[in-house]
Amino acid sequence: MARNERVPSSSRFPFPDRPRLWGVAVSHYQVEGNDNCDWTDWEAAGRTRGEPCGDAAGSWTRYEEDARLARDAGANAFRFSVSWSRVAPAPGEWDSVALGRYRALVETLAALDLEPIVTLFHYTHPRWFHERTPWTSPSSVDAFALFARKVAQALGRRVRLYTIFNEPLVLVLGGYVDGQIPPGLKDVTAASRAFTNLLTAHCASAAAIREVTPGAVISVAHNMMSFAPERPFSVLDRACSWWAHRVYNRALPEAFATGAWSFSLPPFGRFRGRLKDLPASLDVLGVNFYSRLHLRCPGSSRLGTSQLLIDYGYIDRTRRGLTDNGWEIVPEALLSILKEAAGAGFPLLITENGLADASDTRRGAFLRDHAAVLERAEALGIPVHGYLHWSLLDNFEWLDGYSPRFGLFELDRVTMERRPRASVAEFRRLGASYLNRTFTRV
Ligand code: FCB
Repeated sequence: MARNERVPSSSRFPFPDRPRLWGVAVSHYQVEGNDNCDWTDWEAAGRTRGEPCGDAAGSWTRYEEDARLARDAGANAFRFSVSWSRVAPAPGEWDSVALGRYRALVETLAALDLEPIVTLFHYTHPRWFHERTPWTSPSSVDAFALFARKVAQALGRRVRLYTIFNEPLVLVLGGYVDGQIPPGLKDVTAASRAFTNLLTAHCASAAAIREVTPGAVISVAHNMMSFAPERPFSVLDRACSWWAHRVYNRALPEAFATGAWSFSLPPFGRFRGRLKDLPASLDVLGVNFYSRLHLRCPGSSRLGTSQLLIDYGYIDRTRRGLTDNGWEIVPEALLSILKEAAGAGFPLLITENGLADASDTRRGAFLRDHAAVLERAEALGIPVHGYLHWSLLDNFEWLDGYSPRFGLFELDRVTMERRPRASVAEFRRLGASYLNRTFTRV
């Protein structure tokens, strides 16, 4: 990727008063409960594997407790998302009670000295959205940017860091190519249009937020995976891994770095576009990193609508044992992911990293190993300025319901009691050392 030569607009980040962030991440739908949106309909239509979201973790009302748990766990930052469906229950209608509730959360965080990191889109849409202003239509841009503006107006100057979209490429691939998540399309042309409109909406929302809150720092949370050939000596497996890396990891940062994108989903489609305002619309590149996929080609399953037969799955090559939901644990891969991400020329923040581990036997080592990579990356001069753990507490996992337990805090879904797992102590210890350490570059 061509290194972005522009002077970063982000001298505002890292914040001079808070050079490193150590915290937790949650998303509205996964913890709040009883938010009626497109995902609720997806569950009702039987499109998910797990139980429906229902009450989730009850965080719509328990947000003060959640904020305190994060503070007591040694965090200085708290990433959460705003529900578009709560804020805009009907087109053009704005719910001031919902906006007030998010403002109260921001005030609670500020009172506890936690940096609020506000995500505007984390997978769910209002029910009216796909009919009225879908991502395949340019009308989505104004609809979303207006939502961004309303949120920024309601939250005020206490919010300095916004993540406009969580995993926009996953939305496009999962929602428009593979049909696994709403709106459930399998249409590469629609996907390419949605990608363009999402990036355009990012620009328009960044402009709206900066107008309302001058100096606000704008980020995106990009899911990055490590890819490896299932058979290390197979030319085809290696070529597939290279292609997956190119499309899944590099295309989005490259678009933000250069204002242009061009990649193919063979044999059907090519995503191609240009948006000159895109580079200046981003200050920080957020990285959501979890695991590594091994690819085999030709395989026996189809990847999306493509005729390409690629098998992909998790293999325990590192011998740390797979997580409860079957993901490989590969902290060492985080270093090359961060190097790759840094190539786009933006300061970095790890916006999500974590594991499903109900017994909590692996979370402590997982945290230590990933924190060690963070330290190594910083020592190597990679501009990574923080780590947010997914997640504060057990929550609703999109397609899998409540069985994966990602929480530092265990959730009792009957009483809604939050109980600290043993690894909270490790999270606190690592956070204190990360926030206090003076790094020297090697
Ligand atoms: C990420 C999502 C987050 C959560 C974790 C496990 O990709 O952003 O909402 O589901 O995976």
